[in-house]
Amino acid sequence: MPKIIVLPHADLCPEGTMFDAESGQSICDALLENDIEIEHACEMSCACTTCHVVVREGFESLEPSDELEDDMLDKAWGLEPNSRLSCQAMIADQDLVVELPRYTVNHAREHH
Ligand code: FES
Repeated sequence: MPKIIVLPHADLCPEGTMFDAESGQSICDALLENDIEIEHACEMSCACTTCHVVVREGFESLEPSDELEDDMLDKAWGLEPNSRLSCQAMIADQDLVVELPRYTVNHAREHH
């Protein structure tokens, strides 16, 4: 069973955490199941960017993103080469280290 390590995030997970996840499950589902309330404004239909995460380790184990995801990702706050929309990225068989970006587009709009 792959392990997911989540790096500390001030609001969602101040201490960071680690849990077992199932292969084939989306990163977003796995986070929510483990009480990390990541935003998922479009209900996981690849139509927003609020579920954006950066995969610090294990990125190569994920199926590559498709064109729609890439188009959406372009609009994400704090885009990085290892960025994914967590509702579209299915966990494979390797451990992942996941960072939750400081802001989402929703927050950025409210605070800046
Ligand atoms: S929840 Fe909207 S793209 Fe993932």
